[in-house]
Amino acid sequence: MRRLYINTIGCQMNVYDSDQIERVLAPGGYTRTAQLDEADLVVVNTCAIRAKAEQKAFSFVGRLAKLKKRRPGLIVAVGGCVAQQEGEKILSRAPQVDLVFGPKAIPRLGRLVERVRLQGMRLVDIEASDAVAELDLTSGFRDDGQVSRFVTIMQGCDNFCTYCVVPYVRGREASRHPDRILEEIRLLVAGGVREVTLLGQNVNSYGLKEQWGSFVALLAQVDRIDGLDRIRFTTSHPKDLSDHLIDAFGRLDKLCAHIHLPVQSGSDRVLKRMNRRYTREVYLERIARLRQVRPDMAITSDFIVGFPGESDTDFEQTLSLLDEVAFDGIFAFMYSDRSVAPAAGFDAKIDDAQKKARLQALLQHQEAFTLAANQALVGRMQEILVEGFSTRPGLAEEPSARRQWSGRTPGNKIVNFDQELDCTGGETVRPGLMVGVRIEKAFSHSLWGRPVWVEEKPGGIKGETCHAA
Ligand code: SAH
Ligand code: SF4
Ligand code: F3S
Repeated sequence: MRRLYINTIGCQMNVYDSDQIERVLAPGGYTRTAQLDEADLVVVNTCAIRAKAEQKAFSFVGRLAKLKKRRPGLIVAVGGCVAQQEGEKILSRAPQVDLVFGPKAIPRLGRLVERVRLQGMRLVDIEASDAVAELDLTSGFRDDGQVSRFVTIMQGCDNFCTYCVVPYVRGREASRHPDRILEEIRLLVAGGVREVTLLGQNVNSYGLKEQWGSFVALLAQVDRIDGLDRIRFTTSHPKDLSDHLIDAFGRLDKLCAHIHLPVQSGSDRVLKRMNRRYTREVYLERIARLRQVRPDMAITSDFIVGFPGESDTDFEQTLSLLDEVAFDGIFAFMYSDRSVAPAAGFDAKIDDAQKKARLQALLQHQEAFTLAANQALVGRMQEILVEGFSTRPGLAEEPSARRQWSGRTPGNKIVNFDQELDCTGGETVRPGLMVGVRIEKAFSHSLWGRPVWVEEKPGGIKGETCHAA
């Protein structure tokens, strides 16, 4: 048996790709390990979205030089978006690297690794066709007890936001055939998965080029899969968020009331220079429409601070957008030059200190809204899909602390709770079950509550977790 260690950096798409990498290498005898020291093959699945992500990849690759000295047979492979972007250069920069492969080369990875292993070659495969990279769906699925999974429905991006590297490294938008997506989800569900998140850089344009019908049509088909309970998707581009899709939130039972709708900035001037192709007004109108259809809709977003030319007034407009929308949560990033993206050549760059100050101000401004959105759930019942034990840091140090279960609300908020039901008679909590939890406490990143009911599901292991440490 050979051991495979994968370090995944970057977005959910890379998490999905790492699962695909694991599947494609399984027939070659590779099984995944969490122990770097025992690996025969290390794959670094990289991200190029910001300079920091790229540095993270190179610093990890740097560490592997030592490991390779100790384990001479070790194969080091660099995949993902930095691999696609840098290609050959990685081989000359890092002698410990044996293989560089782009996201589109994943289906060929088994053969590439064999050539490295048997012929001792150093290889680069960053061939970037516009076709979708598909794996054989029937093999290599591993049931690792995960109840929620990502499923990529489309690759690449055609939007060319001026700051973004994705269209250059992931290529043109291409959708997977609906039959393959549905088949994949059915296989996942057969293995115990109850929630899927459909992934694409702009899911709204799913299937349009290929004339396979709309994203909403795909959602409706996924909604009909027996045994699947929850559907999420990401990312939706505000310029393409149609009424049709918004209405689907009111119609499809399994579609969770949460949308991640990255806005990037509250200033029209900045949005224009970013080539986002919507205005603040359009964005706000979409939010209003979403809330009209689903008043309980959780809304989250991404922001970039310090985009070239962003003035104090522009930034103030971003802060005031936070007031107007009252997001459930946000992700915020300091603008980072990507040499292939046009904004790298824009003038009026913002210095690092200014970017840091704006990032802090933005996050601080949002804090009260995030907390308020969480507090609004206190006293309410929420349906939680149990994912496992809470990994809350510090819990082990609390002497009285018991392990807590953890899962998410339909609105994607993390809820932790104790097992307090009658263990001898009723069902007990376990991953993969829905539990009704009454929310009692709200924090900034999670909620805490008491379980009121546990779904009855055939095959439940009654009583097993009663005395969980
Ligand atoms: N397709 C998605 C975004 C994918 S990238 C969308 O259009 O919304 C995830 C996030 O990274 C983006 O939303 C943006 O906020 C951030 N990002 C992308 N390029 C960046 C850059 N050059 N510097 C800083 N943040 C960036
Ligand atoms: Fe990047 Fe814009 Fe495409 Fe999102 S939509 S991946 S930000 S180019
Ligand atoms: Fe990063 Fe590539 Fe995803 S650049 S954000 S891993 S598509």
